Amino acid sequence: MKNPIKKSLIIIVSATIAALIGIGGCIFMQPQKNNTPQKVTEPEKQVKVGKGDQKILIAYFSVPETDNPNKMTKEEENSAIVVDGKVLGNTQYVAMLINEKIGGDIYRIEPKTPYTTNHKALVAQATEEQKSNARPEIANKISNFGDYDVIYIGYPIWWGDMPQILYTFLEMYDFSGKTVILFSTHGGSRLAGTVNTVKNKLGGATVIKNAFSLSRDNMEQAPKRVDAWLKEIGAD
Ligand SMILES: Cc1cc2nc3c(=O)[nH]c(=O)nc-3n(C[C@H](O)[C@H](O)[C@H](O)COP(=O)(O)O)c2cc1C
Repeated sequence: MKNPIKKSLIIIVSATIAALIGIGGCIFMQPQKNNTPQKVTEPEKQVKVGKGDQKILIAYFSVPETDNPNKMTKEEENSAIVVDGKVLGNTQYVAMLINEKIGGDIYRIEPKTPYTTNHKALVAQATEEQKSNARPEIANKISNFGDYDVIYIGYPIWWGDMPQILYTFLEMYDFSGKTVILFSTHGGSRLAGTVNTVKNKLGGATVIKNAFSLSRDNMEQAPKRVDAWLKEIGAD
């Protein structure tokens, strides 16, 4: 007759060995590699984006083609949005949303000679200004520009570029050491390469890559889109 103690001992020892192999197997198993690319939307590091005591300026240019919220033509609707019964330019609206969210000072670039609100005439003028590489004069100057650390700059896309008055603005001030954050509205061209254009112009500034861009056809998404973008860049 077989010894029952010996039999149980064999069972216990075999079970222990099996368990150890199992644990060992787990310990030495190659960790599963996760090959799925993950989208990491980290804020750009070490860049001032307007947190703490950094002083923010939100500068924008915008040309709503009417101030009457009633009976807008298609072109007027394209160039403007009605918020609480008031007509705002598309870029103006985005500037206001940014300002509501992060504070700072808001400044509208005002041309010395106001642009016409007549669509055809505006298009003709913009064409002419781009052709002649004009620098339309700005009426309102910022006396304390040096105080700002972070400058948001907003503009509509005009003929695949910034309106010429933006060139006037960029050439008017010393941007060295400042963070520049761009936002724009458009009719299909998105940013149209303007981030690089500004980067090349403002060598001494840090122009962040993640600029905001919104189609005039999606203006109703502006609040949600602005919030998400401000989070992405670490400003909110
Ligand atoms: C003179 C002019 C030229 C424009 N050129 C372009 C263009 O090249 N690409 C584009 O996507 N949208 C173009 N647009 C559309 C504007 O970018 C768009 O309507 C913008 O949202 C207007 O912004 P605002 O209301 O702040 O001025 C042009 C508009 C005007 C008036």
